[in-house]
Amino acid sequence: MSNDNRSSEIAALLQSRIATAMTGEKLPGVRELSREFRASAATISAALAELSAAGLVRAEPGRGTFVAGRERLPEPDFSWQSQALGPARVDADRAARLGGYGTPEHIPLSWGYLAPELLPTEDLHRIGSRAAKSARAWLMTPTAGSPELRRVLAAEYRADPNDVLVVSGGQQGLVFAMRTLAEPGSTVITESPSYPGAILAAQSAGLALASVPADGDGIRVDLLADALERTRARVIYLQPSYANPTGAVLSAERRTQVLELAAGHGAFIIEDDWARYLSIDGKIPPPLFTEDPHGHVVSILTLSKPASPGLRIGAVIARGPAGERLRASRTADDLCVAPMVQEIACSLLTSNVWPRHLKRLRTELATRRDILLTTIRTTLPSARLQATPQGGIHLWAQLPHSTDTREVAASAYAAGVLVGDGRHFFVDEPPAPFLRFSYGAATHAQIIEGTRRLAEVLRAQASVLRAANTTVR
Ligand SMILES: Cc1ncc(COP(=O)(O)O)c(C=O)c1O
Repeated sequence: MSNDNRSSEIAALLQSRIATAMTGEKLPGVRELSREFRASAATISAALAELSAAGLVRAEPGRGTFVAGRERLPEPDFSWQSQALGPARVDADRAARLGGYGTPEHIPLSWGYLAPELLPTEDLHRIGSRAAKSARAWLMTPTAGSPELRRVLAAEYRADPNDVLVVSGGQQGLVFAMRTLAEPGSTVITESPSYPGAILAAQSAGLALASVPADGDGIRVDLLADALERTRARVIYLQPSYANPTGAVLSAERRTQVLELAAGHGAFIIEDDWARYLSIDGKIPPPLFTEDPHGHVVSILTLSKPASPGLRIGAVIARGPAGERLRASRTADDLCVAPMVQEIACSLLTSNVWPRHLKRLRTELATRRDILLTTIRTTLPSARLQATPQGGIHLWAQLPHSTDTREVAASAYAAGVLVGDGRHFFVDEPPAPFLRFSYGAATHAQIIEGTRRLAEVLRAQASVLRAANTTVR
């Protein structure tokens, strides 16, 4: 979540004040503005920077901030740009809900990362400062990543470390994989519903999307066969374990069938293994990668979910020419992930902090999942929960047919609650209204308060609908 909205809000308030001020007039200091707007110094500084970028104020180091003269450049006209750019590839509405969304005051009833208190923050501070002092942190690593880290990451996948490409998080891995494995203009198949970031990655790689419905056992293999025939797609994007948003696990039978289909059609499977370290009940199935000797499966893992969203480390594991192409084309992007971050990741994964952290995480996630399930059942009777996830951090709930989830998510946002509008998880029209909930970010008290506010939003929408129906009759 970001402070951007709050600082822009303050910038707008200051702007109306500046409109009636004299050129050269001094603005109150940061501390005074912090008190007035009940905002941090960083938020005030961001608001002032916004005004300065717009040419409305002038900052003089050591003296303060002053109202700028009115002799400004003409109002910008960017209309020519849309014509020059052509149609947008990436769906901006979907993109706006990933990454830094909401403010620190929002209750994260739907959020893709863990709450700070669930992260090994103190250990990361210690490991981070040690890493910063190491010589290795300040030397370039090979493009594919530090050999030590590649070795550690390969182990879980029983992979050759040479087939591991270190990337900065799962999202970058998805973009690299989509871009390298499929030709621009060709089709990638995703299970439906699916992770919005994967839809964005396909769009940014210039790919068309075809979706295949999934149920509690993962992607519907009968329909996948049909889609492969129809679209001639050579790439299938799947989350076999604890899928975001449904929590579904691909059944053992379907795992075999999916691998057979990929082999029969000469297709790649991008296995988004983001929840590898987020099991709650029982054990997560092994990566699909371990059952495929012929290089059809390309796995993507991330540490930003179990370790820290700010630790932008992930990996793409791919065999054969696909792996070679992935590693070669990444050189064109950024040469390598910051060596210091790789050093931190390697130290974390090889220290005894890691198993201890995962053990605690499992217990904490189980508690929060159960609280969220119970609270939804008691507070939101119209929400039909699909299944109890055995791992991951998300829950998927269906709402009555008349529910407008766009409106619900917007009203919840205005009421200080983040909840996932189900529409963003579908490539095409959603088959019903859905909301995504998450149990990794909100505390017990926040879950209770967030669902209470959401219940009010749902009640208000239902009564508006009832009134409209009565008027029509
Ligand atoms: C299913 C899935 N895959 C990949 C990612 C990418 O995460 P990151 O880039 O932070 O590793 C996310 C994040 O929300 C996700 O939910």
